[in-house]
Amino acid sequence: MRHFLEVDDLDAAEVAEVLKFASMKEFPKNLDGKGMALIFEKPSARTRNSMEMAVFQLGGHPIYIRPEEVGLDERESVEDVTKTLSCFHSMIGARVFKHSTVERMARENRVPIVNLLSDEAHPLQALADVLTMQQEFGDLEGRSITYIGDGNNVFRSLAIASGFLGMEVRFSGPPEYKLADQDRERLEFAGVSFEEYTSPEEAVKDVDVVYTDVWTSMGQEQEKTQRYKAFEGFQVNEKLMNHAGEKTVFLHCLPAHRGEEVTDEVVDGSTSRVWIQAENRMHAARGLLAWLVEKNIEEGKKDE
Ligand code: CP
Ligand code: NVA
Repeated sequence: MRHFLEVDDLDAAEVAEVLKFASMKEFPKNLDGKGMALIFEKPSARTRNSMEMAVFQLGGHPIYIRPEEVGLDERESVEDVTKTLSCFHSMIGARVFKHSTVERMARENRVPIVNLLSDEAHPLQALADVLTMQQEFGDLEGRSITYIGDGNNVFRSLAIASGFLGMEVRFSGPPEYKLADQDRERLEFAGVSFEEYTSPEEAVKDVDVVYTDVWTSMGQEQEKTQRYKAFEGFQVNEKLMNHAGEKTVFLHCLPAHRGEEVTDEVVDGSTSRVWIQAENRMHAARGLLAWLVEKNIEEGKKDE
């Protein structure tokens, strides 16, 4: 059974297929009469709404589950919650603190599991990001993206997705918030062209896309002061954008902490594509779900 816990659960050709599904004007009703459970351990505006609409557009019925309702590993084990929800739903999406939680769900192998954000990855966001860049530039082969700030869940997934589509990926952030060796090895294994820069100004030079995310992710609130200090000099503001190309666009997964990692003038400025990117969360989610249903039917037939 195919799950979607991180972008490289798919190969590069499969990511390209999902993006084609995302752009279909007629939606396949391949969730007709089926349910998808959406469990959230953390807050969400974009992910919850885009997923609910995506499931609906495919003919299915989404059920949002608040953290206190299921109490993963508190009221019941992750495994038992997964088994139970699989009795009613043909897919489960989960936004979790620990990535191991979605891995445990996937190990049950009852229904496809979709990662709605974990401490390690945000693969649905990355699909929307590459879709947005494709709409902007067409073929992404040979294009470049610079991510400024925290080498976090959003960046890990984004780096794989944009690298898969042939983009050169650059990173600039404080040394203690760079990717770990194993993440860099994973990018290397995926064939991604990746470079780290000390200077954000150098990193954005002649790049097609500048991307940033919050310095303090959900669950890291107690580190806020220390992070605020560490990320000084890594704000995406007009001055930094002026070091990039004339046609460089700005992306942010949102929510933005305006005045921290990015200024109002950049989020609201002419180079910003953040609202198109937010809308693309729904199209990308629909594409992924439709693809995943078809793929699992195909693979099921092969096993018969
Ligand atoms: N970008 C994103 O995942 O937003 P939410 O946290 O609002 O879902
Ligand atoms: N890195 C952020 C992304 C939010 C969509 C977080 O994990 O909180």
